[in-house]
Amino acid sequence: MNPKITINLRNGDTWFCLEQLSPDTKFDDFSCSIAEYDDYLYKDALRSQNDHIALTWLLRERTTGIIAAYMSLIADAIKLSLSEKDIHSLNYPFKTLPAMKIAKLALSQNAQMKYKGVGSYMIFNALALARICNRQLFAARFLTVDADIEHDKGVLAFYEKNGFIPNAELYHKNRKTVSMRKDIYA
Ligand SMILES: CC(C)(COP(=O)(O)OP(=O)(O)OC[C@H]1O[C@@H](n2cnc3c(N)ncnc32)[C@H](O)[C@@H]1OP(=O)(O)O)[C@@H](O)C(=O)NCCC(=O)NCCS
Repeated sequence: MNPKITINLRNGDTWFCLEQLSPDTKFDDFSCSIAEYDDYLYKDALRSQNDHIALTWLLRERTTGIIAAYMSLIADAIKLSLSEKDIHSLNYPFKTLPAMKIAKLALSQNAQMKYKGVGSYMIFNALALARICNRQLFAARFLTVDADIEHDKGVLAFYEKNGFIPNAELYHKNRKTVSMRKDIYA
């Protein structure tokens, strides 16, 4: 498989390229205002990708080449209660269900000021990749995220507006994040 796969996508009037992080990737001066997310991209994302821990996708403006956003995707599994499984009509005798997780998602400060909807667009892209996996590679019924409310409580609203709901089973485990899921086929 080509590790430098690039998919051209359009958002409003701006054309973007969604491409996988590679050893040749030039980072410009990506900054999203949360040091932890910047450090991850600069220092850990490539190592994590080489170790098959997380695969990172970059969203570039096609005309300027500037990185507007990135997300790291990983395989996941979530535990759902009986009533949670009922919501999705998943009548199976096991609690753990397959998922794909957005392990990291961040927009550059510039993109946050310049565009509206790029965060949602990244989720749309994650869903599209999950559907490709489902058709061709392996099953993942949910898109999941640990919404980082430590840095910004508002991200909960962002994910809710994008159709995610909190997971009751995992809700109180770690108060810095809220475990959330979106049914890819709802
Ligand atoms: C969180 C983030 C990805 C959102 O991206 P974005 O492009 O601003 O989001 P969108 O424009 O697609 O927003 C969709 C909706 O969510 C709302 N929303 C987005 N971010 C929000 C926030 N921080 N607080 C409250 N609401 C928010 C928007 O107002 C919009 O609502 P509307 O449809 O009613 O207008 C982006 O601000 C970011 O990268 N933040 C820094 C890193 C981070 O916190 N990542 C998440 C880690 S889990």
